[in-house]
Amino acid sequence: MTKQLILGTTLRFTGLPLVDAWEDCAHVNTAGGVLVVDGQIMAVDDASTLKSAHPDAKVTDYGTDMITAGFVDAHMHYPQTAMIASWGKQLIDWLNTYTFPEESQFGDADYAAEIAGRTCDLAIAHGTTSLTSFCTIHPTSVDAFFDAAATRGMAVVAGKTCMDRNAPDTLRDTPQSAYDESKALLEKWHGVGRGTYAITPRFSPTSTPDQLAALGALWAENPDCLMQTHLSEQHDEIAWVRDLFPTARDYLDTYETHGLLGKKGIYGHCIHLEPREIDRLSEVGAGVVHCPTSNTFIGSGLFDTLGLAARGIRTGLATDTGGGSSFSMLRTMAAAYEIGQLRGSALHPAQLIWMATEGSAAALHKSGEIGHLGAGAAADITVLNLASTPAIAQRHARATDVWDALFPTIMMGDDRAIRDVWIAGVRQQG
Ligand code: GUN
Ligand code: ZN
Repeated sequence: MTKQLILGTTLRFTGLPLVDAWEDCAHVNTAGGVLVVDGQIMAVDDASTLKSAHPDAKVTDYGTDMITAGFVDAHMHYPQTAMIASWGKQLIDWLNTYTFPEESQFGDADYAAEIAGRTCDLAIAHGTTSLTSFCTIHPTSVDAFFDAAATRGMAVVAGKTCMDRNAPDTLRDTPQSAYDESKALLEKWHGVGRGTYAITPRFSPTSTPDQLAALGALWAENPDCLMQTHLSEQHDEIAWVRDLFPTARDYLDTYETHGLLGKKGIYGHCIHLEPREIDRLSEVGAGVVHCPTSNTFIGSGLFDTLGLAARGIRTGLATDTGGGSSFSMLRTMAAAYEIGQLRGSALHPAQLIWMATEGSAAALHKSGEIGHLGAGAAADITVLNLASTPAIAQRHARATDVWDALFPTIMMGDDRAIRDVWIAGVRQQG
């Protein structure tokens, strides 16, 4: 048995701070501690209480640094890591110009392994302990990602991205091969170690109705798996969906009529939703994911964080690498704050950190397992230095309370703010 005590300023949550008063949901202890036994959190309490109850534990003391649950990125594309920050296009042009040529390379197992490893390492360096990724149509790309995550002990969600139209030949499968390959991959990876499989139609424009139906059938046969896709990101995309599916009531209906709307569905972006789509997402208990740096970078629009939360829709936060422009969930929180401001609501630092941890975990149906600083969760932990650069330090020096001390790091922080990361109880930076 390995017993560890991690000491510092602990930040943990109960409740739903996007809906209820954040003051009732966020709990800060400036002399706190986390007891970790065999990779799991056993207790979060006063440092002094834990120290006297567990004199045999190995102590790591971070002083005044802030200890949070590790960040959970609820939607990203690891195959786009090497082409992040590609200039000048909106969604459909961006996919055709930059994304599809890059994704075409992932039939090469060595290249897939290199980028999968690089992505996991970049995530950890930025304080992200769990990733939810689209792969490419190539089964090798899925194997590479789950392998890279397993090597690092990370809990991940991923799946083979299926496309059988409106993509280059090198990136097209068929309804049958999408079904067969996804089935084989979910049997290989779902529930293995810390892996979760997500059946992954890219989005309705790149799947025929037959392919959507085949993947809907696969999901019905494997209801324990997640299903991830994109929904209502840009106006041109939505108009294209209307042309491709003339009888559909709306974009979500293209998924719904093919068995791809459900509680374990995770829908990325969800910016320009119709009232019926919001009603249905809320009724079925589906999850949505806010990708704010992507939404400004690709020019998509302003996600309604508080409006969707008020409808009881679980909302995760994500980088959407490489449509998103940063690997950092701190930068992603900053972008969520900025989009909130453009919609007339200032999200509180407690709400932003909650979205990047508990909110993402809830969207992935992993509440209490990841993204949670509390007993029973995996010891996936991020330690923040709240004065990591001269610019942040001088602002931090005049902070009036703990939230005022944290907010400059959310707005201006990057990987330099990550003092340390623990994954399943294993210290990463030592
Ligand atoms: N919609 C379909 N595919 C993608 C993708 O790779 N990135 C983003 N941002 N949106 C998409
Ligand atoms: Zn995406």
